[in-house]
Amino acid sequence: DVTTDPLHADLLEIAREAAHRAGTLLRDGRPADLTVAATKSSPIDVVTEMDIAAEKLITELIAARRPEDGILGEEGSATEGTSGVRWVVDPLDGTVNYLYGLPTWAVSIAAEQDGERVAAAVAVPMRGEAFHAVLGGGAWATGAWEGERRLACRAAAPLDQALVSTGFNYVADVRAEQAEIARRLIPLVRDIRRGGSAAIDLCDVAAGRLDGYYERGLHPWDLAAGDLIAREAGAETGGRPGERPSGTLTIAATPSVFEPLQHLLTDFGA
Ligand code: IPD
Ligand code: CA
Ligand code: CA
Ligand code: CA
Repeated sequence: DVTTDPLHADLLEIAREAAHRAGTLLRDGRPADLTVAATKSSPIDVVTEMDIAAEKLITELIAARRPEDGILGEEGSATEGTSGVRWVVDPLDGTVNYLYGLPTWAVSIAAEQDGERVAAAVAVPMRGEAFHAVLGGGAWATGAWEGERRLACRAAAPLDQALVSTGFNYVADVRAEQAEIARRLIPLVRDIRRGGSAAIDLCDVAAGRLDGYYERGLHPWDLAAGDLIAREAGAETGGRPGERPSGTLTIAATPSVFEPLQHLLTDFGA
């Protein structure tokens, strides 16, 4: 059994509760006539009133419990904090899926202490599933289908038998490059997926449902929770050789797949 730092355990509890509550709001409160409220970096980068409502719920819950902490949220939350703890929040990851009524979307919440990810929760309401991890304490899932369990990434596989997910961020002028990288990768792997939620992709690597995942152009809130969950499940995460996962490149994979995938992606110019 693992002993967990009591602060990390507290942070985890708050993260799980906030993710669950925001997930319930998003599931039960989705207007039938939901439309795009605004576009952000490009015409395909959309936000709805529900992204904003979910972020409000999460940041109010965190501020009520831990008023000294900093918060970085996709929809504009940016408080500095004085405690050394910072929350990194994606209130709705997979907005395009949510807008269209596709079920692959999540709430992603991570807590960092002095810059290190220490607790993470990802709720996937339409799967009835939630993932969580605390630094050094393993990654866990609760869910109706596979039940409550400790997560382990997939067993070793050669790259040509790896199921690899990816995403295409919404910066219009790099989409053609992303397509080119995927085009070169497809013949070398079992198959490619594009689920539409980076947080779920990372959790699915943790859960052994994908051999690997990569994406360019992620933001901190897309990957903070999923990165800790994937690593605590034994997956390797990184970016370009020697780098941590970042907006430049994020890769998460079962260890046998990580290096060959990183090598190819670097070769392809990722
Ligand atoms: C997006 C999703 C998507 C990924 C994009 C992200 P959002 O987040 O994670 O899968 O490909 O890069 O921006 O905007 O739906 O929270
Ligand atoms: Ca967004
Ligand atoms: Ca996101
Ligand atoms: Ca989002």
